[in-house]
Amino acid sequence: MAKRMPRRRPRSPWTLQRRLVLTVVGLLALVSITIGVVSVVILRASLLDRLDVQLASAADRSGAVLGGDNDGDRPGDNPGSSYFGSPTANSILSGPAQPPGLLALVYDGSSITTGYTDDQSGAIEELSAQQVQQLADHVNQPGSVTVNLGGELGDYRVQAETSRSGTLYLVGLPLSGVAATAAQLALIITFVSLAGLIVVAIIAAWVVRLALRPLQRVTATATRVAQLPLDQGEVSLDDRVPAGDTDPRTEVGRVGAALNRMLEHVDLALEARQQSERKVRQFVADASHELRTPLASIRGYSELTRRSGQELPPDAIHALGRIESESVRMTGLVEDLLLLARLDEGRELEMEPVDLTMLLVDAVSDAHAAGRDHVWDLDLPEEPIEAIGDEPRLRQVITNLLANARLHTDAGTTVVVDLAAVGDRAVITVTDNGPGIPEDLRSTLFERFARGDSSRFRGTGSTGLGLAIVAAVVAAHHGDVSVDSVPGRTQFRVELPLATH
Ligand SMILES: Nc1ncnc2c1ncn2[C@@H]1O[C@H](COP(=O)(O)OP(=O)(O)O)[C@@H](O)[C@H]1O
Ligand SMILES: [Mg+2]
Repeated sequence: MAKRMPRRRPRSPWTLQRRLVLTVVGLLALVSITIGVVSVVILRASLLDRLDVQLASAADRSGAVLGGDNDGDRPGDNPGSSYFGSPTANSILSGPAQPPGLLALVYDGSSITTGYTDDQSGAIEELSAQQVQQLADHVNQPGSVTVNLGGELGDYRVQAETSRSGTLYLVGLPLSGVAATAAQLALIITFVSLAGLIVVAIIAAWVVRLALRPLQRVTATATRVAQLPLDQGEVSLDDRVPAGDTDPRTEVGRVGAALNRMLEHVDLALEARQQSERKVRQFVADASHELRTPLASIRGYSELTRRSGQELPPDAIHALGRIESESVRMTGLVEDLLLLARLDEGRELEMEPVDLTMLLVDAVSDAHAAGRDHVWDLDLPEEPIEAIGDEPRLRQVITNLLANARLHTDAGTTVVVDLAAVGDRAVITVTDNGPGIPEDLRSTLFERFARGDSSRFRGTGSTGLGLAIVAAVVAAHHGDVSVDSVPGRTQFRVELPLATH
């Protein structure tokens, strides 16, 4: 399936609205075309029938003119009788009650005479030799047939007969009337259908849009919910599909109702998660808090014993020293945990202008005092730079970064601290030329208890919480922290929002 995806991309899919409207219009067009074609065909057939009836009676009359006799006709009544003996096409055409446009051909055994009445002027015209030839081809066919005579005449319906006196004759009537009427009907049906299609398309689009509006509201709700940051912290999922769109008797209503039920469940699940997270955080905060006092006592008593002036065996002195240093380390750990638990709670930070210049000067001079084997370099801009934030927390960020640059590098390493304002952000970088951050640690560097192997054994007070605190504090300030490390150059970069005056 995944393989086929790229080839199917290029055309954007049809919306439901477009599909419905086009289906309705397409079906209506099909019905219109069918009705139109059937109507025209039926009309044409019935007009042709009528023409054939007319033709048959014209043939009868012509037969009478040519010297045969129809029942009831008296010869004296017949104006054509004067031509008796030499029948021609003219005697047919000028006969009584002949329809306009009539065509006649008479073969009296020796010669052919032809002619037709021009339906415009009523004059009798001759046929061309070619037309005569075309008609002659049909003389032997029984009943009426259609012949295309070309030129001005076009299609003619013709019928061949033999008069009582034995003269072969043929009469024809033009089909142009039939064709014109059929064409007119086709044109009318086409125009009416087109107008109907346009009206139907407009109404269908309107109806579909109206019908889909509830679906749009459901979609809007789903989109709003999808944009909520649900992955962490306190979230309230109050957004619901409006009650009017949750009627289970309609399709869209069922979608709306299902979405609402799902939101209800998700809300409950989030609340439960929130509750348990809060409990864990509370527990960590309480435990850390409770541990502070006994740790302080342990440290106090061991220090007291060591300094009591009593003569102690060297082993005991060593053990007391270890107890003291380990309790210092554990106090640090407990403090870090407590701080992280508080940051997790999302407790409001102080948001005041903090002079980063002063803060860096203090922090670097502290680091310098703690790490005499390192070279410390501070690069400050002329203008003081202030960020918005919580001073003690920001101090902690810098302290942690400087401690790392001191503890995880060798003696003689140069550490450069730089401060600058870039756009609306204050940018602090801490760069050292130490060994760099171990490859396997980089992806989890800012996670809790992530630390390099070497730090674990050096007993440098490493907890793996330093950078987790940095990340949490910077995030709480809506800032950014990133690291760029290769052997020989490690740079931490912290961005904080500048204070605006
Ligand atoms: N400047 C640095 N140079 C080399 N490694 C570093 C540096 N900063 C941090 N690290 C590595 O990142 C790990 C995590 O740092 P951190 O979260 O502060 O924990 P900790 O310092 O308590 O070990 C450290 O254990 C160390 O291996
Ligand atoms: Mg650290």
